Amino acid sequence: MTLVANFSEIDPSSFSNPENAVVSSISLHLLVDFTKKTLVGKVKLHVKKIKEGTNYIDLDSSNLHITEITDDATGTPLEYNVTEPIQIFGSKLSINLPNNQNEVDILVKYETDPDAFALQWLSPEQTAGRKHPYLFSQCQPIHARSIVPCQDSPSVKTTYTAEITAPAELTVLMSALRKDVSEPRDGLRTHSFHQPVPVPSYLLALVVGDLASKQIGPRSHVWSEPQLVDKAAFEFSETEQFLQAAESLCGPYVWGVYDLLLLPPSFPFGGMENPCLTFVTPTLLAGDRSLACVVAHEIAHSWTGNLVTNCNFNHFWLNEGFTMYVERKIIGRLYGEQMREFAAINGLKDLKDAVKTLGDQNPLTKLVVDLSGGIGPDDAFSNCPYEKGHTFLFYLEQLMGGPAVFEPFFKAYLDKYKYQSIKTEDFKKFFESYFASNPELKKVEWDSWLFTTGMPYKIPKYDTTLADVCTALVVKWKEWDCSGTGPFSPQDLTSLKPLQVQEVLAQMLELQEFPLHKVQTMQTVYNLDASNNSEIKFRWLRLCLKSHWEDKVANALQFVNEQGRMKFVRPIYRDLYAWEAMRQKAIDNFKVHRANMMAVTAHNVARDLHLE
Ligand code: BES
Ligand code: ZN
Repeated sequence: MTLVANFSEIDPSSFSNPENAVVSSISLHLLVDFTKKTLVGKVKLHVKKIKEGTNYIDLDSSNLHITEITDDATGTPLEYNVTEPIQIFGSKLSINLPNNQNEVDILVKYETDPDAFALQWLSPEQTAGRKHPYLFSQCQPIHARSIVPCQDSPSVKTTYTAEITAPAELTVLMSALRKDVSEPRDGLRTHSFHQPVPVPSYLLALVVGDLASKQIGPRSHVWSEPQLVDKAAFEFSETEQFLQAAESLCGPYVWGVYDLLLLPPSFPFGGMENPCLTFVTPTLLAGDRSLACVVAHEIAHSWTGNLVTNCNFNHFWLNEGFTMYVERKIIGRLYGEQMREFAAINGLKDLKDAVKTLGDQNPLTKLVVDLSGGIGPDDAFSNCPYEKGHTFLFYLEQLMGGPAVFEPFFKAYLDKYKYQSIKTEDFKKFFESYFASNPELKKVEWDSWLFTTGMPYKIPKYDTTLADVCTALVVKWKEWDCSGTGPFSPQDLTSLKPLQVQEVLAQMLELQEFPLHKVQTMQTVYNLDASNNSEIKFRWLRLCLKSHWEDKVANALQFVNEQGRMKFVRPIYRDLYAWEAMRQKAIDNFKVHRANMMAVTAHNVARDLHLE
């Protein structure tokens, strides 16, 4: 019988025991070996005992090849034990600590596995330049443990330093401030970093590749492979404006630098809020800045998530719901309140889609979820914490007296919990004490908001000015009897903002059915095939699949093969799976392209296609 490692009491996704001892700083020394696809070297962990008499520390690790663990001060070997791995969670690594000290530096010598979940190793052919290999990481939610033994729980925050040695012709960046780069020796250079603000493990990030940069603001550069740097600089030129709007809402930006890294197409997310260096997908390069709100979102995480952090992924909405709220407040500051509320209406479509996919009785549609019993946070991931969370905060803003009352509260909340990891109860407590004398307080039905499944039990009244034209156009299509060419012209869409076109398509996708002839006429009149906006393209392709337009299956497959953003790839694969005649085609396509996908994307798509 295999021993089942027990999960931590404060975090259902971690084996660590921060109630007994915590790691307060990490110092990494790693060599990037592109031939073996490994990181090899050592990590020094500064451990502080919390509970008297503690003589061990439990860490998370996943597929790490450990050769030795010692007390760094004396060089004395420390005994350790690694449990049998449990799927995605990996193994518990228990290390005996010396008895006589309350603080100790432990040194772990190890090597990562070529299949480390957090890493994607790209061959030169998989890059834009086709000359150099490329490596990037994605640690959120629980994959830092495949790069470094650590307390892989957001309830723990550590500062870190790193020295990363890599081929001299490549650039190394991390979620930290850059210190220096050594002179080349034996074809290698060592890059050093420090992150002086304590961060949760999921914010550890690393990229190695042929990278160029261009300054886009007083504290910002954009980094990418050289051929894309100008395009990226144009697309994300509003970064400093977003930062200033965020500071006016949330308080000072504490991270010094705010850089952006444009990743290769297989990056599995739209954006990732790695401190000092947000990671973004190239699917944001629409050419007209229409998708830059993802940058506003990642900037917002500099407070909601990176300063005030969910203590475990049951409370993920404290990160993502709050960040959606700040993202849309930034949009409101820059483009007006109508635009903010329109974005919220748009987001509700994503929420409906998520609730439909999961089922409206599914406990994962609650705002606060329960991941105990081995539910992986990747498997629980959906739009619910984002959009239900946003809906709740928008509701609270209106209820308590509008922005004039709510904005000072929001700042005070961030100030109260900055540098901490909190649970929903902490937010509730602070809210109740801040608004103790506000008569509206007793109207907040906490349990309904936090613990009921399905759509939010109340939906605020949003300004519909920008949505009304979309609804009118959808009605026109719905009511058209398919005779002649219909009352449509290209101006229907060219007169709209990109987000409105997205809304039109999202509304059409909500209809019970949309006849093939109408979708084909839409293509003739609007030429949606030619759209450069990935959000529009995504919804357009889904609409084509929904009405079983066979010619478009090839386009849909091309779309999932040319980029790996899970938000796009997974629904398209699920749609193809649901269309029985196309099911095998989808499975065959996945099998051919699986090797080019990041591990987490391949894992999820395999589940969507019922292969695992
Ligand atoms: N932190 C998330 C990405 C993430 C979540 C990675 C959970 C791993 C596990 C990031 O901030 C995010 O929400 N990205 C969105 C952007 C959006 C909502 C504007 C995305 O990737 O699409
Ligand atoms: Zn986010």
